Amino acid sequence: MIKALLFDMDGVLVSTEDLSMTIGKRYFESKGARCSKKNFEKHLGMGERTFFDGANSEVHLKDYSYDEASRFFKDEYLRDLDKIEIALPGAREILKAAKELGLKIAICSSAPDWKVRVNFNALGFNEDYVDLILTGKDVTKNKPDPEIYLKAMEILGVKSNEAIVFEDTKGGIESGKRSGSKTVSVLNTISLSEAESAGADFIVTSLRSFSTKESLEGLLKRASDYKNPIYRKFGSHYVGRSKRAMMLSLEEKIKNAEKMAWDALENAYSPFSHFRVGSALISYGTGKIYSGCNVENSSYGATICAERNAVTTAVSSEGALGIEAIVIVSEVDPPAPPCAVCRQFLTEFSDEHTKVILISKSGYREEFEFSDLMPYPFILDSK
Ligand code: THU
Repeated sequence: MIKALLFDMDGVLVSTEDLSMTIGKRYFESKGARCSKKNFEKHLGMGERTFFDGANSEVHLKDYSYDEASRFFKDEYLRDLDKIEIALPGAREILKAAKELGLKIAICSSAPDWKVRVNFNALGFNEDYVDLILTGKDVTKNKPDPEIYLKAMEILGVKSNEAIVFEDTKGGIESGKRSGSKTVSVLNTISLSEAESAGADFIVTSLRSFSTKESLEGLLKRASDYKNPIYRKFGSHYVGRSKRAMMLSLEEKIKNAEKMAWDALENAYSPFSHFRVGSALISYGTGKIYSGCNVENSSYGATICAERNAVTTAVSSEGALGIEAIVIVSEVDPPAPPCAVCRQFLTEFSDEHTKVILISKSGYREEFEFSDLMPYPFILDSK
């Protein structure tokens, strides 16, 4: 049974990385050095020392002093913080839902103590809202070492299979995994494929996935009877990914889906509109491809679009699934996008990163992420 949630801070609950890099850059520039935010990117999430020392290994400032940089940083940070909103979507809500469910909550960040506490306050909570705050000063080894999470579990009195870690960077995910806890990767910092290769157990595009008591309960249940290597949340449900699904690259699968979509278009039943559409989707969990065409009806409103036919074929074959990508082909330029009804229908089996690829007969091609087409989707949480 899950008893505790352990949160990294930056990139999970709050977004201060851009502010941090801006101030870091300002420090080096104030010393007359040339510097860009890029110099900091590889050194994020592993403590302030690594943040500055790492950047200076690229910037090569001669009279560099970490202590000076650190002081400069604190002054500027405290001054700039109240000018921006740092809470990430769903952060406040998951903390409230965790409280309602009686879970223990810990913040485990390698950042300096003052920064973690200031950020937490900026979320609108007192520090005693959580059971424990561990920061850079409390550990001897930074992430990816699991020390911070192991220490938190020891203090909270929970075992590693009773805690879930929330992380956003490769090093953080590794730290969570090495602590023995199930680790959720929140895609604020790294890409989907990076999160997969880092070994995250669950992948969500934001903490909004857990913004209600019900949706958080769904995660707790999943984490307890966990079997598959990676879970990603699509619509209101989780999909585990099999090894088979990872055998072919996404590009190869999209090529196959394209061919199947054109084959399906040949079967389009469109005697009224004479508008033919074909679609094929790739199942995230199994890697299998399912296709559909539009099927019209004398009573026009009974028409079913190609995309929805592909989805119902897929669900009929393997049950609730996650759509990794969907190809939609038509014979017009620009190619037809999914209609609004299909967008809502697809919402149930997609996430923000589901790829939507539109192709026309003449080869016109447009690629979207699902969130481009459906920015504010309606999803009813399920347990
Ligand atoms: N159609 C689709 O199959 N998919 C879409 O997303 C747009 C519309 C079909 C439905 C109907 O058979 C024809 O195109 C004209 O509306």
